[in-house]
Amino acid sequence: MSYWSHEYLLRTWGGPMVQAEFLKEAQKPFFVPRIFSGLNLFLDKAGFLPDVVDLVAKECKTKKAFLVTDEYAVRFAAKVMAPYEKRHGIKFEVWKEAKPDAPIETVKECADKMRRFGPDLIFALGGGSSIDTAKGAWILYEHPDVNIEILSPIIPLNLRNKAKLVAIPTTSGTGSEVSGVAVISFPDGVKLGVGGALPELVPDFALLDPTLTVGMPPQLTAGTGGDALAHAIDGFMVPRSDELNQAIALKTIKMVFEWLPRAYRDGNDLMPRIKMQQAAMMAGIPLSNVGSGISHALGHTIGGLYHIHHGAMVLLFIPYELQVYSKATDRYLEICNVLDVRDTNSDTKSLSNLIGKIRGLMSELHLAVSLKEAGVSRADFEKNLDFILDQTPTDPAFYFGWFDLTRAQLMDVFMCAYDGKLLDMDSDIWR
Ligand SMILES: [Fe+2]
Repeated sequence: MSYWSHEYLLRTWGGPMVQAEFLKEAQKPFFVPRIFSGLNLFLDKAGFLPDVVDLVAKECKTKKAFLVTDEYAVRFAAKVMAPYEKRHGIKFEVWKEAKPDAPIETVKECADKMRRFGPDLIFALGGGSSIDTAKGAWILYEHPDVNIEILSPIIPLNLRNKAKLVAIPTTSGTGSEVSGVAVISFPDGVKLGVGGALPELVPDFALLDPTLTVGMPPQLTAGTGGDALAHAIDGFMVPRSDELNQAIALKTIKMVFEWLPRAYRDGNDLMPRIKMQQAAMMAGIPLSNVGSGISHALGHTIGGLYHIHHGAMVLLFIPYELQVYSKATDRYLEICNVLDVRDTNSDTKSLSNLIGKIRGLMSELHLAVSLKEAGVSRADFEKNLDFILDQTPTDPAFYFGWFDLTRAQLMDVFMCAYDGKLLDMDSDIWR
């Protein structure tokens, strides 16, 4: 199958153009949804003043709304729908078949149901996969003849002729509730980020109720929190990042280190849930506006191949991303300052302190620091190595980085990541 991200011209020209200094200052769009956070977002009874329910309901002229969710998050559907049904007479159709990694078949199935119902408001309730399924189905609802896999970011999506999107996350990690991208998976194991020339897939509303994340199992808290940390570090480190996105990313990094261990230890403790929900949403803003780093390119390939949790996989590659990017920028020193691990006498020592700090958090969360620890068999890894080395450079997160890694450099990263060893940046490969 051919995908937009495999397009030769985009890879060889598109990536470098996006990073070019002279173009970077030409236009800097910054897109976010209207964001509401709190414990009272779904009130059954109208208050004295108009609230978020009134504001969202105003977008539903046909009084028909379609709710996309999965078998876990469907338990929250009644709470979400009640105020719209009772206060505004909106009729819902609930589709609860969203699957992990948003496979294209389920996206098409969802779009089909959406088309038959004809809503003008779509609610996406669940983790990143549910929200991404809703985004993919939204594209196909508006444009039934589109091929999602060839929709490159230079093609306008022309959404919102039929419906608007409300995202309600029940996990704290993917940032999909604020992002202009949907990650869809395809039968050959490829995971593809889909988005438009302008970030049209940014939801119209993001509703963040922390009680929807209470009771998340510890490993899911760790994995999704790891994803949020990776987005924040990516969002700070990638070449396109600017002051606005960096400010958000830095604060998010600090918040994750402060609150994720507590959220992991006790899934019913509300304050860490509130903080991690905010952190994940905040990390999604630079992810959406300036893109992700090579952690995501490497993590997508391995995660897609071995079906390992996305967040756990991308965080595993963050130490390597920091090492690789340190060849081009010393921005990581600002992260060291924020986490109080800077050695003012040595940048190299600062970098190794920072990596130690990240890996310390990973151990605390029982997240694998190597592919071996993540359960990948060496024989299978070696058998797939050529595919891995071919596939990774086609991921946009790879070619929107500071520089293109050679095949030998990429191989070095993967081989070191297998055993959890750090790169030897003084070796000939990295000079
Ligand atoms: Fe991610």
